Amino acid sequence: MRPVTSRAAHSKAPGSLMFHRLAAQYDALYSFKDSKREVDYLEALVRRYGRSEGRSWLDVACGTGRHLEYLRRHHEVVGVDLSGAMLRIARRRLPSTRLRRGDMRSFHLSESFDVVSCLFSAIGHLRSEAELGATFRNFARHLKPGGLCIVEPWIDPEDFRSGHVHLVSHSQPTGAVARMAHSTRRGNRSIVHYEYLVGDPRRGIQHFAEDDVGLMVPRPRLLEWMADAGLRPRFLTKGLNPGRGLLLGQKPPARTRTGALGSAPFRRRKAARRI
Ligand SMILES: C[S@@+](CC[C@H](N)C(=O)[O-])C[C@H]1O[C@@H](n2cnc3c(N)ncnc32)[C@H](O)[C@@H]1O
Repeated sequence: MRPVTSRAAHSKAPGSLMFHRLAAQYDALYSFKDSKREVDYLEALVRRYGRSEGRSWLDVACGTGRHLEYLRRHHEVVGVDLSGAMLRIARRRLPSTRLRRGDMRSFHLSESFDVVSCLFSAIGHLRSEAELGATFRNFARHLKPGGLCIVEPWIDPEDFRSGHVHLVSHSQPTGAVARMAHSTRRGNRSIVHYEYLVGDPRRGIQHFAEDDVGLMVPRPRLLEWMADAGLRPRFLTKGLNPGRGLLLGQKPPARTRTGALGSAPFRRRKAARRI
């Protein structure tokens, strides 16, 4: 059985085999994730840290739309992703939701949002800190004044452990998938070698392999890049996945005609603790 190999994560555009040829397996591989619980937590963060009035939410690198499915209960949602294959699955899940193909570094929508999120460490697929800066600036551009940016970072270089072996598998009546991962590092790049076995009733068992290269940036640098993009940054250790935490960046509320900053709640918060 010859594996289909790919170093695609950082060849042409960022994004890996997982998000192209194996997109159909994505939801099965991550079926253990509780997207509803994650969305409940994200919404609580927006209630606490967001300072804009509306209910619009842009999820960048939305993948197969698992978060959008729950976010749309209380928000007007839009999703953006680089991968056509992931978006096709998202469109089947959410036929009436606006989903756009775009690159987080450069997409342009002619509207701004109360929340811009980018979850499950999708920013780890960027190739350099300069790209990270461009991405945060693009997120800030798509936020309303007082709006909140929520980004789940990739693992901190301090916390990354080489030699970690991890197995995930999922089986259902329509087939099965198993993925074994082994991690190494090269400087500030994580290299996770994946081997996949995909069982399909018609095609039999196929074998795929790839090295997924991730950009690891220390938390303080991530906060600096957010601040450079004009956002007021904060890191929360409690996130959605173990060891990743969440970056929050608030776009400053609009100034009133007197020059005072934003709403009363923001002024109170500012006095209490600067976000
Ligand atoms: C780990 S998945 C996360 C998907 C979704 N946010 C979730 O939590 O299930 C990473 C997603 O990032 C997308 N992606 C990678 N690089 C991207 C880029 N430069 N711009 C937009 N999306 C990108 C991939 O296509 C993939 O759908």
